[in-house]
Amino acid sequence: MKKSNLRYTLLLLAGLGLAAPTLYSCNSKSTKTEENTTSTSNEETNANMSIQKESFGKTKDGTEVQLYTLRNEKGVEVKITNYGGIVTSLITPDKNNKPGDVVLGFDNVEGYQSDAYLKSGPYFGALIGRYGNRIAKGQFTLDGKTYTLAKNNGANHLHGGIKGFDKVVWQAEEVPGQQALKLTYVSKDGEEGYPGTLTTHVTYTLTPDNELRIDYEATTDKATPINLTNHSYFNLAAGQAPDALGHILTINADRYTVVDASLIPTGELRPVKGTVMDFTQPTAIGARIAQVEGGYDHNYALSNTDGSLKQAATVYEPTSGRVMEVSTTEPGIQFYSGNFLDGSLTGKNNTAYKKHYGFCLETQHFPDSPNQPSFPSTILKPGDTYKTSTIYKFSVKDQAAQ
Ligand code: BGC
Repeated sequence: MKKSNLRYTLLLLAGLGLAAPTLYSCNSKSTKTEENTTSTSNEETNANMSIQKESFGKTKDGTEVQLYTLRNEKGVEVKITNYGGIVTSLITPDKNNKPGDVVLGFDNVEGYQSDAYLKSGPYFGALIGRYGNRIAKGQFTLDGKTYTLAKNNGANHLHGGIKGFDKVVWQAEEVPGQQALKLTYVSKDGEEGYPGTLTTHVTYTLTPDNELRIDYEATTDKATPINLTNHSYFNLAAGQAPDALGHILTINADRYTVVDASLIPTGELRPVKGTVMDFTQPTAIGARIAQVEGGYDHNYALSNTDGSLKQAATVYEPTSGRVMEVSTTEPGIQFYSGNFLDGSLTGKNNTAYKKHYGFCLETQHFPDSPNQPSFPSTILKPGDTYKTSTIYKFSVKDQAAQ
């Protein structure tokens, strides 16, 4: 008989003598008897469970931030903090139904604010804005006016600047009837050099089908570039493999954007066919990485995009049997193989995050689009609404008999 995870949590906390975390909007259905609960579909039960809220500590400036837990009936659990909209933990079952955490991160907000973390800037699990990826020389011209942005990556602007959307406190609210969290942030005119007041909503939803869905929406009062993404680092082995190089990756892209030494696109879209960049067939991340200077850190131009949700990438991890499928409405995906991780950061479960321990698949528009007229536009105008969606779906292959 299935019992709700909510009840498990409460029993566990009561057993441990701990204070119960605040629970949002327990509706009448969540007090059903177990007999009744078994007769509801997974979907219904999932929707009726409350999401859990607990303290995640205080930011350096003394602001209390929270940690929200979304759960479904299949044992998937996602933790998200309203500091930076960061996904701190994502637990999925492996082929033996053993749960494991498949993302890199920390147990408390201090981890995301330590000097070592800020210096190396990995952006674990964070929401990235206003502009994910690089803008050359931190400059662009829009409607005849040149804007200068914060430079935080050599001469370039990266992931929204010095204090991007990954380092701000978002307002959080539950979405009734779903395992979903809606985050809102209003970025002021001139923040990090960008024009216009930008209001952004990001909704994280955990579906009954083991999908972590991210819906991004924004409006502005002046034209501004925008390119929102999530910067989760995945390791589907969840501690069972020394690094992420054994993951088998497929990217549905025939071309990638060629970059210069500072990772700024030259404007060329180059076919991957016959090169070490080709992931159109399932290939281990580590198979050819030694031939890629610095490792993979490239934007792939996804094939067959039309603004609707399309499968962009698939990852299979053989030791755990876990599979992750990435679908997006976006035209690009940055495949970053964790090249700048160097073991100096120790995260959850006392894990040292060494080189290639995790990888990112950041769905996005192309880097430096504001300076590249041939790339799809990233300019949001007043009166228009920016809307993109990405889904990370988890499953297993080679499942052991239960
Ligand atoms: C970039 C990398 C960068 C990493 C962490 C990725 O999105 O492409 O170059 O090192 O983020 O900042």
